[in-house]
Amino acid sequence: MSNQTILKGQVLSFVSSPFESDPASAVRLYDAVVVQDGKIVDVGDFATLKTRHEDAKLVDHGDRVIMAGFVDAHVHFPQTAMIASWGKRLIDWLNSYTFPEEMLFGDPAYAIEIATRYLDLTAANGTTTMCSFCTIHPESVDAFFATAKARGQRVVAGKTCMDRNAPDGLRDTAQTAYDESRALLNRWHGVERISYAITPRFSPTSTPEQLEALGALWAENPECLMQTHLSEQLDEIEWVKTLYPDARDYLDSYEQHGLLGGRGLYGHAIHLEPRERDRLREVGAAVVHCPTSNTFIGSGLFDMAGLMAEGHRIGLATDTGGGSSFSMLRTMAAAYEIGQLRGTPLHPAQLLWLATVGSATALHMDDVIGNIAIGMEADLVVLDLGSTPAIAQRSARANGIWEAVFPTIMMGDDRAIAEVWINGKRRLF
Ligand code: GUN
Ligand code: ZN
Repeated sequence: MSNQTILKGQVLSFVSSPFESDPASAVRLYDAVVVQDGKIVDVGDFATLKTRHEDAKLVDHGDRVIMAGFVDAHVHFPQTAMIASWGKRLIDWLNSYTFPEEMLFGDPAYAIEIATRYLDLTAANGTTTMCSFCTIHPESVDAFFATAKARGQRVVAGKTCMDRNAPDGLRDTAQTAYDESRALLNRWHGVERISYAITPRFSPTSTPEQLEALGALWAENPECLMQTHLSEQLDEIEWVKTLYPDARDYLDSYEQHGLLGGRGLYGHAIHLEPRERDRLREVGAAVVHCPTSNTFIGSGLFDMAGLMAEGHRIGLATDTGGGSSFSMLRTMAAAYEIGQLRGTPLHPAQLLWLATVGSATALHMDDVIGNIAIGMEADLVVLDLGSTPAIAQRSARANGIWEAVFPTIMMGDDRAIAEVWINGKRRLF
């Protein structure tokens, strides 16, 4: 018996960036893909693949869309249980809701409970890889990685470091941040599909000494990603100016301490100065758009069109639980709406690209995840384009794939996720 599976449906694969050419021509549609031992081993038309892989098991998805699983480039798994907390803006929101919840993650049992719940919720929403902040507790990192490893998932995460402007019990020091991050990096980085990201929360909750220590750790481990936050809200930016009087701008508070680089991920990046935009692009760093968070916490409107035109590396993310959803469909819808508010609507191909290839590129993993191509890892999502009566009646009168898929992007939720494959295995719900 062959250990191959043929999935039949509308198989969507990107052949170029829909931001660099006609969006519709960036996609190639096939009607079957073959999966074996965690990898995509063939893609093409069904009749050919059926003769080439005659013993393969068939899963016929009809006209469902089969594409790469969603990649969420910026999340906080420990904020799962306090998502949708009302009425505050960033700094008050952190102090009122986030920090008290993060305090609980020194307890390994609680950390595992929430990591499990988070990975269940995101799988049900078609997300197969994410890059997560943990808490200052090494236990939270161990819990997240151990839970993901048991599922064979490709994930990135790191211990969130803070040594000031955070409550008692939620601060480390420059030295312990370095030591604990280093120990976790050595324990987990490169284990199966796990990657470690060096993770200073953001400039306001680190002393210059802590940023310096983490910059040194990154210099010692340049293959690692580094993730943080940048220019999310205007009063946050003013605060950074008072905390780092020598810095030319917010980004410079990182740059001065060795925390600007091509493998850096900068969440939000809404209110950027021209110098910051130039430097981010020059070094090839990634900025990560978190649209449901930016509307929910009232942060501002990310300049997707302008940053793309300048050639930035851009990922898309939920920012759970500042973001108000676990769903990358809902996140694409919010990105579309923010584009509309800026007068630059995004094409459905651009939205799907951001949620897969774009985020994978931000994570420097676009050679292994985020698209359907031979040799890539078999993380797949199968979309039902008629998952509710409202969506079904709209897609039924669609003219072509983009009109058929757009109602699911705008109105779809976990009911649209017909199936998820992680590491070549179908995940049952
Ligand atoms: N800035 C620093 N920490 C956070 C966080 O947890 N969420 C968001 N949205 N912004 C932050
Ligand atoms: Zn965040």
